[in-house]
Order: sequence, then C-alpha cells, then structure tokens
Amino acid sequence: MINPHGEPLLSLQNVSVHFEKERLFGLAGSDTVHAVDDVSLDIYENDVVALVGESGCGKTTLGKTAIGVQRPTDGRVLYRGDDIWESKGSNGLFSRRGADGARDWKEIRRSLQMIHQDPGSSLNPNYSIESTLSAPLEKWQPEMSEADRRARIYGLLEYVGMKPAQDYAGRYPHQLSGGEQQRVALIRSLLMNPDLILADEAISALDVSLRAEMMELMLELQQQFDTSYLFISHDLANARHLTQQAGGRIGIMYLGELVEIGTPEQIIHNPQHPYTKVLLWATSDLRDRSSGVSTPPVRSLTIPEPTDPPSGCRFHTRCLEAREVCTQECPALTDHDGKGRRTACFRADPNHEYWNSDPLDEGRMMNERDASGESGHAEGD
Ligand SMILES: Nc1ncnc2c1ncn2[C@@H]1O[C@H](COP(=O)(O)OP(=O)(O)OP(=O)(O)O)[C@@H](O)[C@H]1O
Ligand code: SF4
Ligand SMILES: [Mg+2]
Repeated sequence: MINPHGEPLLSLQNVSVHFEKERLFGLAGSDTVHAVDDVSLDIYENDVVALVGESGCGKTTLGKTAIGVQRPTDGRVLYRGDDIWESKGSNGLFSRRGADGARDWKEIRRSLQMIHQDPGSSLNPNYSIESTLSAPLEKWQPEMSEADRRARIYGLLEYVGMKPAQDYAGRYPHQLSGGEQQRVALIRSLLMNPDLILADEAISALDVSLRAEMMELMLELQQQFDTSYLFISHDLANARHLTQQAGGRIGIMYLGELVEIGTPEQIIHNPQHPYTKVLLWATSDLRDRSSGVSTPPVRSLTIPEPTDPPSGCRFHTRCLEAREVCTQECPALTDHDGKGRRTACFRADPNHEYWNSDPLDEGRMMNERDASGESGHAEGD
C-alpha cells in the first residue's frame, strides 16, 4: 500500500530544467526553453503517478530528471533522502557511499529504470530474448544457477502470455510484435528489481485493444515486484485506468509547471484547475456529453512558446476564468481543502483577491499578443 506519510522514495524539490536554444535564421544569442519550472513532487513506495499534459509541456524532461538521466538546472532530486546528483558526482562520474556519505550512484541507477515508447530502441536487436532477460539476473543475482535463471525467465514469459516460453526465449526482437516487445521490455526492467519505473508513453504505440491489457499487466507485476511507476501519457483516460486501480495520483502539467495533482476521482470527477477541465473536454472517453459544450473551454487555442511563458499564471492567455490578477501573480500549487489534492489556481482559494479582481481587458490582451508577434503555436501543430 502507498504510504504518503512515510519517507518518499523520490523527492523532487523545486526542480527546474531550462535548455538554451540557438535562435533561428542565424540570429545571434539563444533563447531559454523553460521545459520544467519549480516542480515539487514526492513519489512513494508502490506508488503510481501519471503525468498528463499537451505535447511539449515538459513531461519527459520531468520524468528523466526524476530518474537521474537529466540534470536539473535548479532544485534537487532526492532518492531515499540522498541527492542523486551528489551521488552521481558533479561531472556525472560515479562517487561512492563513504567518501562523502553519498549513496552509490550504481545502486540508484539500478533502482530507477525506464521503459521507452518504442521498445525497439531499448531491446538489443543482436540478442535473443533469453539473453536480454538473463543479463539483469546475471548482474544482480549472480548466485542464481543457470537452470533457475531459465526457469524464472520462462515463468515470466508465460505469465505475460508469451507461450510456449521456449519458443519466444529463442527469438530476436524483430521476430516479436510491438506488444510482445513491450512486454519483454517491462519484464527486463522489473528483473533489475527497481524501486521505480518511468514508463514514458510506454503503451501509446500499442493498438487500443492492447493498451488496457498492458496496463493490467503492469499493475499485476507491480504487486509481484513491489515497484512504483511514473507513467507519462497524453491520454487522461489511460492515466485514470492505471491510477484508479493502484490508488495512485494524476498530475497535470502545463507549460513546464505542475498545475494540479490528486486522486483520479478528484481530477476526473471534480477538477479544480481550468486547464484540467480542458483536458477532460478533449478526452472523448471522459467528456461530459450532457453539458452540450461543443467547443473547447479556452479563450485561445494558441499554446505560448516555452521560451516566452506568459507572466503571472501561465494559463492566463487561454483561461476563460482569467482576471487581471492572473496576469501578474503566479498561483502556487496548494492543498486548498486539506484533502491532499493540490491546485495552482486562485479560484481554488475562496479568500483570494482574485474574486475582487477585474475581468481581463480583452483589448489590452490582444495588443500584448500582437506586440509579442503571437509567437505561440496552435494546439495540434
Ligand atoms: N535537449 C533539449 N534541448 C532543448 N530543448 C529541449 C530538449 N529536450 C526538450 N526540450 C524542449 O523542452 C520542452 C519540453 O519537452 P518534453 O520532451 O519534456 O515535452 P513532453 O511533454 O514530453 O512532450 P511530448 O508529449 O511531445 O513527448 C519542449 O519545448 C522541448 O522542445
Ligand atoms: S489562476 Fe487565473 S488564469 Fe490561472 S487558471 Fe486560475 S483563473 Fe485561470
Ligand atoms: Mg515526451
């Protein structure tokens, strides 16, 4: 069971990741991409957290930062209380526990695994499935006999429906379907006995009919292997499917920020953030058809560029509820009703000055957009 009061397995503390991007057309200088800005998030043992948001909002960057693949430009990532980057060393070189008290980076690396969207990129085409699955066992359980190793691999292949196991074990990745490749990738990462698996769009490439099956499998194997998932998806319906059964949480990201996080019931049935409502509207499986609203609940379809995020609340250029104060002040991600859900919107606070603030001056907003050259891109670009 998830214990939100225990020590977090992973703790992201005020994490920001900025990239410098060269300007187009040979213009001098560079622009700063605000891929992730000031995100704090705790992940516990046996936890499931799904991150959802539009393309380019920073999900992958945040996921990679959580497992120590991407270095934050600001803030800290703690694994069981130890700063990942102190363990890794300032140049990404391994340091050892004992020298400066930091945990061995190799231990952290093994504990934080990733399965990719395209399993083909993570399975070595030159290795048979048996060799691929033997490698982590040989490394982490060297005392295991060859016969026991084979029995464990065959047992798992059968468990995930790849029967007869002997036949599948002898195949190479190109001799498997995408769904079968993804199952092998999942088994392989679990055989490392990780504490957490980052599953970045890991089911998106599969047929719709296979997605639910793969999620069920992930949850079944979670019980056996005692692992947590950080699951990244464009699709709120998939995020709900996975987190609902696991007692997990859904985090909504917008332009590099975490804007709402809570249980699937809170996010799907009682969303507080206007952007969460937009995502719900955009998810056909979850849209409330009785509302009769046929246009997206936004003022503008244009997504601002992450090199030039709007002032105040980043969603104010698109938010139907925005008022003047939203253009100046940035709402903090806060648990407003003491029920564990956190929302970054002034409307969630009944005492905020937002309620006395003037509605947005649309004319001024238009001028500002014109002055900035309307540099954003439209949804679906
Ligand atoms: N290495 C990099 N260098 C420069 N910019 C980057 C780099 N990696 C990501 N970005 C930019 O950071 C922003 C966030 O990218 P990220 O891949 O995290 O988004 P995402 O939410 O995972 O999107 P998608 O759903 O399309 O996978 C984007 O504007 C992207 O172009
Ligand atoms: S703070 Fe203002 S602009 Fe931001 S989501 Fe809430 S109402 Fe909309
Ligand atoms: Mg991504």
